[in-house]
Amino acid sequence: MPDFQKILNTIYEETKHLSDTGKVATYIPELASISGNKFGICLLDIEKKSYHIGDFEESFSVQSISKVLTLAMAMSCIGEKVWDRVDVEPSGDPFNHLSLLEQENGIPRNPLINAGAIVIADILVSELKEPKKDFLAFVRQISGDPTISYDENVAKSEKATGFKNYAAANLLKSYGNLKNDVLEVLDFYFYQCSLSMSCSQLCNTFYLFINRGKCRQQQEFLTVNQVKRINALMLTCGFYDEAGEFAFRVGLPGKSGVGGGIVALLPKNFCVAVWSPGLNKKGNSTRGMAVLERLTTLSDLSIF
Ligand code: DON
Repeated sequence: MPDFQKILNTIYEETKHLSDTGKVATYIPELASISGNKFGICLLDIEKKSYHIGDFEESFSVQSISKVLTLAMAMSCIGEKVWDRVDVEPSGDPFNHLSLLEQENGIPRNPLINAGAIVIADILVSELKEPKKDFLAFVRQISGDPTISYDENVAKSEKATGFKNYAAANLLKSYGNLKNDVLEVLDFYFYQCSLSMSCSQLCNTFYLFINRGKCRQQQEFLTVNQVKRINALMLTCGFYDEAGEFAFRVGLPGKSGVGGGIVALLPKNFCVAVWSPGLNKKGNSTRGMAVLERLTTLSDLSIF
């Protein structure tokens, strides 16, 4: 194993003063007030040794990173039936685009774009007694951390302004690919996106995906096969119309969120979370991408 702490220290110094760190998301008003200077990194290896630097313990809005966790829960509830309602192809489109959804008769390209995640949310609304409470309990269980919570202000903020998501859910409903009430499904979707977690908590949660479906406490939540599928989707679809660029520059499965977080992982080896709120034009953390590119270069570890 390389000296991860030394590598993180080096990368932190190199990227702390980047001239372009992107722009903080403002289309969810509650996110607009976050300082673009926040910057934290945490890496957890398969032996559960943690390496970290900067604001790695500060919670932030995980946003689309939550889509991986709802997908995991939906797969643990209904298994392969998920794929009757959502495809597994990269979209090559921004995360909130709707044109393909209409062309492809209401079947979203994959579960990591907004339309796909809304279908997954619908599955959970059907399967769970109390979706918001039960999903939060699932995340707390896989992370082993009972302090993880939703940020109500972020959820309410997006509920008031998330017009594209209302459009996506209505379009899905018109094609018969949304079983529950549009507003009920979106209420759950906005809450899942508002999950508030630190880099350290994200690593503890995503340990499952480097450990063949078993969480930090070695309890099995997913099969080896389900983890293989989810990691493949993170690689091909985790960064929307920048998935190719991420694979090209970084070479790891991963998932971003407009809160400025990115989680990436090398199966059976390590998972890493970076938080830097400034985003590039495709909605992915500018400094997060730079950090991860340096990490796989300096450690000589990637899936390729
Ligand atoms: O639905 C939305 O637009 C947000 N709640 C999540 C979008 C997101 O994080 C895209 N990721 N880079």
